[in-house]
Amino acid sequence: MRPLSVAIVGATGMVGQEFIRVLEQRHFPMGKVQLFASDRSSGKKLFVNHTEVEVQETTSRSFDHVDIALFSAGAETSRHFAPAAAKAGAVVIDNSAAFRMEPWVPLVVPEVNPQDLKDHKGIIANPNCSTIQMVVALHPLHRTNPIRRIVVATYQSVSGTGSAAMEELTIQTKQILDGRNASPHVYPHQIAFNVLPEIDVFLYNGYTKEEWKMMEETRKILHAAELGVSATCVRVPVYISHSEAVTVEFTNPITPEDAKEVLSKAPGIRLLDDPDISLYPMPWSVAGTDDVCVGRIRRDVSHPNALVMWIVADNVRKGAALNAVQIAEVLLQKDWLKRS
Ligand code: A2P
Repeated sequence: MRPLSVAIVGATGMVGQEFIRVLEQRHFPMGKVQLFASDRSSGKKLFVNHTEVEVQETTSRSFDHVDIALFSAGAETSRHFAPAAAKAGAVVIDNSAAFRMEPWVPLVVPEVNPQDLKDHKGIIANPNCSTIQMVVALHPLHRTNPIRRIVVATYQSVSGTGSAAMEELTIQTKQILDGRNASPHVYPHQIAFNVLPEIDVFLYNGYTKEEWKMMEETRKILHAAELGVSATCVRVPVYISHSEAVTVEFTNPITPEDAKEVLSKAPGIRLLDDPDISLYPMPWSVAGTDDVCVGRIRRDVSHPNALVMWIVADNVRKGAALNAVQIAEVLLQKDWLKRS
């Protein structure tokens, strides 16, 4: 097959950089590669497959003759440029929340609902990072024993907010260790040596938008409109990887052994579960890897049909760049790049 013309919007950002790494590592068949960002980065040079590429300012005319456009430059930029890119003939894979809940936009995790890509209309949405890792782990179980209700608490790293937030954690940590006061800029409060139960804005019902996204997106991806989901999303002073404590209520009884058996054969999952040797996934050890890691699987003593588990994944890779590139790979393998 001919190499594809690829555009990356937000190429200078945290996820944009990871897009480049993942495309290179997976030997994605790239021909021409164009890197876009804001006008601030215009002229900056980055390497793709050992070749220097100049970053350009994103405009509506950036997408002529582009086959695949990977977007990770915030929802506003996606709303502004993704429709123009799709109109120019590119298939957009968008990492922002701009189009995720549009009924005509597939919201896809390749291990879970790849078939939803078939009838795309030129824009495909990459789900929220916390949603991706949760549905990868829960979908194989849901297929064998339908899930009725999920209660999840997240422990999300600062890389989910972007490079400025990672810098803020470093600066504040140094300030505090030097005996100085830490001044918050990216977050409403100090993030170093602290946890913040606020990710994105608060809604009328007391949930935050991040929590609401997780709840809605999970139902859309699993095609389970009636599924009960309640999330509490928390930012923690960790650079990379999101962790989740998840309580899952199934239709029928299920043992931890049953769940381990199913998960050990499921794609994209690594079981790390041996309390005797303190083996469980941790953000530090999972960072930089591709799998969704699951451990601490146990019976919920408060409900006969429920399990409790701990799920960790690299939010920049599986939670963003890798998932988007896997979507592009499915489009190629299935010959679904042409829109319906
Ligand atoms: P730039 O570096 O020029 O500001 P992160 O999530 O790590 O903060 O990165 C955000 C990415 O989105 C960066 O590549 C940033 O480019 C890009 N970006 C921000 N605003 C725009 C915009 N208006 N048009 C195109 N890219 C943008």
